[in-house]
Amino acid sequence: MKNGLEDVVAAETQLSDVDGDAGRLIIRGVSLDRLVEHATYEQTAALLLDGFFDRPITAADLQARLGKARVEVFAHVAALDDALVALPPTDAVRALIARLFDGEDFDTAILLLAASAVFLPAVLRLRDGKTPVAPNPSLSQSADILAMLTASLPSPEQVAALDAYLVTISDHGLNASTFASRVIASTKAGLTSSVLAAISALKGPLHGGAPGPVLDMLDAVGSAENAQVWLGQALDRGERLMGFGHRVYRVRDPRADALKGALKPLAASGQVDPGRFGLAEAVEQAALAILKQRKPDRPLDVNVEFYTALLLDALKFPRDAFTGVFAIGRTVGWIAHAREQALEGRLIRPRSVYVGPMPQAA
Ligand code: ACO
Repeated sequence: MKNGLEDVVAAETQLSDVDGDAGRLIIRGVSLDRLVEHATYEQTAALLLDGFFDRPITAADLQARLGKARVEVFAHVAALDDALVALPPTDAVRALIARLFDGEDFDTAILLLAASAVFLPAVLRLRDGKTPVAPNPSLSQSADILAMLTASLPSPEQVAALDAYLVTISDHGLNASTFASRVIASTKAGLTSSVLAAISALKGPLHGGAPGPVLDMLDAVGSAENAQVWLGQALDRGERLMGFGHRVYRVRDPRADALKGALKPLAASGQVDPGRFGLAEAVEQAALAILKQRKPDRPLDVNVEFYTALLLDALKFPRDAFTGVFAIGRTVGWIAHAREQALEGRLIRPRSVYVGPMPQAA
């Protein structure tokens, strides 16, 4: 029995490879650093999905279909009542997705890719008392998400930064939410069910719920001079430092550098708060030093969530919506894994060891 299934291999996949010792991520044959430099979100989505449906998938076709699907799912925004809008944004998005048809075909996959991209900005605007902005099918997914969020055309640097984020987080081996997606797919329950299960797994702070708390931590630290003391006290209280540590990576998470790189053009054009960027770098250095000192047997380095927090904050997403943006990007990975599982895998049904009481003898 392996607690937390640590190091257990539970699937074969042609989708992505996480090498935790080398700090390397390969997505369908392309290393993350090349992918994030050369591919758009639509190209990455086509790369992940091609071969898992009844037709060849190209980025151009996907972009056109996604535009139309965003318009189609926008009709569901009308179903957002006050009770749904009052939920945490990721929960509201999940509730709306649950209304979508549950199928296994390519059209269902496209609707799911469009759904969170449309629902999240709509939920955020409604709770601020603003009218949701209708999608523009001629824009890329990244540009349209930002346009629907802010009701204005985003800058090229903003679009590039969100695109880099969506590419960076598109897939990542058998993480908790992807495993959840595959478990559901193995029962042949359909793609919508897989995505709903995956969102539910993602929102926990040990998985995709960390970047909001990263910003809370930066706010609480306040200044570079205070970092060492604050982090030391947090560890004394038994807390975990958000944005650090990973089940698989024993070195720096390569996605952290991809996102730090994506932040640079935004920073160079004055679209990132320089104070916060400097503070984050100082906190990162202080955290790495103190974790090395306090946990000498466990290599703990920065993970994807640390620079996610800065990037999504710079793009004007509120911090309680960061997990929802993560879901927008990861949905393509969840769908690709669900299809891979449904097409090639067996029902996932492990066993447990009973450690409870035995029945009393009569
Ligand atoms: N801060 C302080 N100590 C830590 C941290 C951290 N961020 N992460 C792990 N540790 C310590 C644990 O306390 C434990 O110490 P101990 O052996 O003295 O008790 C040791 O390192 C091993 O920890 P595990 O819980 O076995 O590590 P696990 O592989 O289960 O945890 C996880 C991985 C959940 C990501 C963890 O590092 C963590 O909680 N990080 C903070 C939350 C976070 O950043 N989440 C986002 C992860 S990335 C993603 O999923 C998209």
